Amino acid sequence: MEKDLLSKIAIVTGGASGIGEAAALLYADHGAKVIVSDVNEKKGNKVVEKIKGKSGEAYFIKADVSDAGQCKNLVDKTIEKYGSVDICFNNAGISGESNAIADMSIEGWNKMIATNLSSVFYCMKYQIAQMLKQGSGTIVNNSSILGSVGFANAAAYVAAKHGVIGLTQTSAVEYSKNGIRVNAIGPGFINTPLLTEAGIDDAAKNGLIQLHPIGRLGEAGEVAELVVWLSSDKASFITGSYYAVDGGYLAQ
Ligand code: NAI
Repeated sequence: MEKDLLSKIAIVTGGASGIGEAAALLYADHGAKVIVSDVNEKKGNKVVEKIKGKSGEAYFIKADVSDAGQCKNLVDKTIEKYGSVDICFNNAGISGESNAIADMSIEGWNKMIATNLSSVFYCMKYQIAQMLKQGSGTIVNNSSILGSVGFANAAAYVAAKHGVIGLTQTSAVEYSKNGIRVNAIGPGFINTPLLTEAGIDDAAKNGLIQLHPIGRLGEAGEVAELVVWLSSDKASFITGSYYAVDGGYLAQ
């Protein structure tokens, strides 16, 4: 594999599972040193061991991204450990409460906005402050297909993911002249533990498959390919964009 990210330091939030894990492994395959960050220390350290098992370099830093102080600490600790922050994949997220708006709890709304939206602002705030000192950096934020269309019983998730695209566009406009690129991705439904946590059984999964013209759900590794490419110099003229990786979901 091409080691085009050699000497780059990459932070992956939610790196212990699913899309984050796949991206962490692929960044390492491309030669980056990877900070795997998550609330789940045990699973996060397993990903670090997997990377080391393939002769890669990785380190776990615990951070709950819904807390601004922990996002700052994540950036500070990364600099302490490796000296720079070159690539960030702001990916951590939850599926949250499944209810129509009239039945949605205020707590469920607040938790979703904190975890899936404010987290991206907190992470970018501290990541960009460091990237400004370096004069370079690339950020990929994980939105969703639901960052551009609605979905029943997921108002808070949909609102948070739309917000991630707005944050991405605004930060790209603010910092493109400083050598910082920021993009968002919009995965369709991907086979990860998040779907199981959302209570999606086999019957519901079949229903979701029908929504994807390609006739199946996506795999985390297929999303990671886009993330790593957007993070690399191959995407040097791309900033403020939103890329679907969705088996045709949004094309309908
Ligand atoms: P996953 O459940 O496999 O992984 C999410 C990871 O985030 C877990 O390791 C979890 O511990 C961590 N996490 C949760 N809350 C956190 C917090 N407050 N602070 C730090 N880490 C936290 O889920 P998956 O599917 O890999 O999701 C990753 C991202 O992809 C999420 O933002 C999700 O919304 C997005 N996404 C997922 C899709 C899917 O169908 N699986 C589709 C579109 C977007």
